[in-house]
Amino acid sequence: MLVIIKKNYEEMSSEAAKIIADRIRKKPNLVLGLATGSTPLGLYKELIRMNKEEGLDFSKITTFNLDEYVGLPPSHDQSYHYFMYENFLNHINIDKRFTHIPQGMAKDIDMFCEWYEQRIKEIGGIDIQILGIGANGHIAFNEPGSSLGSRTRIKTLTEKTRKDNARFFKKMNEVPRYAITMGVGTVMDSKEILLLANGESKADAIRAAVEGPVTAMCPASVVQMHREVFVLLDKKAASKLKGDYVDTWEAKIFS
Ligand code: F6R
Repeated sequence: MLVIIKKNYEEMSSEAAKIIADRIRKKPNLVLGLATGSTPLGLYKELIRMNKEEGLDFSKITTFNLDEYVGLPPSHDQSYHYFMYENFLNHINIDKRFTHIPQGMAKDIDMFCEWYEQRIKEIGGIDIQILGIGANGHIAFNEPGSSLGSRTRIKTLTEKTRKDNARFFKKMNEVPRYAITMGVGTVMDSKEILLLANGESKADAIRAAVEGPVTAMCPASVVQMHREVFVLLDKKAASKLKGDYVDTWEAKIFS
């Protein structure tokens, strides 16, 4: 596990973009795992700039998103479909047929989840998965207590998560109760993982994920078991780490 600590959000985002761009240049048909949320917005912005100004080519890239709410159509402004197209996919030269986001409106959700896993396998697996982390240590919608071997499936949102998300909806009863999410095991099958976190509100979760015991109560802690994981942080998110993380990563990461 390589822990990389940058000065602030901007530097964290541009470093993350450098890593993804490097992987795309080395493998033009890279399979890229995407996350929503506020953390990767700076990374997506920088990748869009690289596409427009430096010709970073996404035309052969395939993407798989981590999760989506059940019951929200892609046109709903709180759906993760909407988020991904608005903030990233509409602004790069990607072939939309190669983009995958769980279908929250699927009639048979279990069958859809099986298909999603199968599709990832058929294509040869995810090369690099971008992850954010919840303040409670969740990854994707795998809340504390999720099986560390879990696969793509439907999950019931906790009341805490629904309340946290209520601010984005007009009424509490509009907040989705379920989501489809890649499992912790699905994420762990990715060849590389790039876990991003910024801000003080993530410091406890990062301490638990990086230096705490591997436990289902902090699903992100499972990354300690992965062979190729980069934990890329700003100073605030790293502020509770005790280890001495020497900045020797450039040689390793771009080798
Ligand atoms: C998003 C996702 C979530 C977020 C996490 C952090 O697809 O799976 O696990 O990564 O909740 O969210 P932000 O970045 O908004 O703090």
